[in-house]
Amino acid sequence: FLRERAAIRVGAHLRRDPLARLHLEEGRRDPYPLYEDVRSRGPLVRSTIGAWTSVDHHVCNEILRSRSFGATGEDADHLAGSPQLSFLEMNPPDHTRLRRFALPTFSPKSVAAFAPSIQQVVDDLLDKTVGDEPFDLVGSLAAPMPIGVITRLLGVGDADADEFAHYGATFGSALGGLQSIKHAGELMRAQQALRRIFENAFEARRRDPGDDVISRLVSTEGSSVRPEEMVPLCTLLLIAGFETTVNLISNTILALLTHPDAWRRVAADPTLVEAAIEETLRWDPPVQRTARFALADATIAGHQVKKGEIVVTLLAGANRDPAVFAEPARFDLDRPNKSEHLAFSSGIHYCVGAPLARLEAIIAVRSLIARYPGLRVAGPVVRRQGSLIRGLTNFPVSRSFVA
Ligand code: HEM
Repeated sequence: FLRERAAIRVGAHLRRDPLARLHLEEGRRDPYPLYEDVRSRGPLVRSTIGAWTSVDHHVCNEILRSRSFGATGEDADHLAGSPQLSFLEMNPPDHTRLRRFALPTFSPKSVAAFAPSIQQVVDDLLDKTVGDEPFDLVGSLAAPMPIGVITRLLGVGDADADEFAHYGATFGSALGGLQSIKHAGELMRAQQALRRIFENAFEARRRDPGDDVISRLVSTEGSSVRPEEMVPLCTLLLIAGFETTVNLISNTILALLTHPDAWRRVAADPTLVEAAIEETLRWDPPVQRTARFALADATIAGHQVKKGEIVVTLLAGANRDPAVFAEPARFDLDRPNKSEHLAFSSGIHYCVGAPLARLEAIIAVRSLIARYPGLRVAGPVVRRQGSLIRGLTNFPVSRSFVA
């Protein structure tokens, strides 16, 4: 009985804690009021679940850029069992060494050269939607497109592509935390299957190199990467490459279709697509938060953060900081400083794939609007599980024949 009373007290406590509530249904449906709750409590807030948290743009940026904070702590054992994401979860010098290997493939110049391949993937997928009315925007374009692109960039053979996408999705579904023992089993099987697919690809590319990531990895260029680091590195690029861009495409189209004036303007002037994508990155970003471990005692916004403590930087909340963005809750194509968002993080872990993600989204959204200027929402959208990654699993749209 006493234990139950305590549990109820803890429950009531948690229900008042916006960071804890992010993990509940309301955080998945609409986290933005919870971010405003955090903001009303101050620039850096201690949560009842132990972590510090912030939606303050300046504070988040400071923490993400500070050498006193790292993507992993000295005793990050509690992360054991969750997917291991290579240099995303490392500190220098290992982080620097592995990131340096990945960078050339994702530089703006390399990515721009890949535009015709991306366009080809998009056109092929859109060709297949022609007979369908209505169709699911996620299943027919937003999800398969980044998978097709990253499979090619990595250099995984076509024969393995479907299996690869399936296991990659299972792995990605664990990013927001495991939901059950069954889920943990699925994750383990997915990890093993991905290992097998990558190891086959290493073999194939040693025999028959191309100009993809895996070919670079198995050549002398990849000598800075230790053998046991190769599979986690490829897994990071795979997951980062397709669990995020899918949501940028869906979130952009949803934002435009629910702001019909913005849709009409973009349909009339395709040069506005870039503004629409940038404003979606600010207003409804695919990656809602990240976290840092204090590597040393630090004073942040007047608070003492002790070595080993965790700070959750709520990136999507920082993107609505009224000190940086006027009328932050408004989706505004003309916002002059929209690219000051933290959707791709900040500091040494700033998203390696940002140029690729932007280009993929531009090509997908531009091509979709050019083909279907009368597109409209054709039924209820389904949100994905969890509140770390924000996006849709189902987005029924109609091509509509209204002019
Ligand atoms: C890191 C967001 C697409 C590869 C990150 C981080 C964020 C992010 C927020 C930093 C996390 C942190 O600071 O802890 C996004 C979003 C994307 C996207 C919103 C799409 C809209 C991509 C793509 C790739 C990619 C297409 C390419 C494969 C990476 C990698 C890192 C990273 C490798 C780790 C960087 C590091 O730790 O140094 N991404 N990403 N991302 N992203 Fe992306």
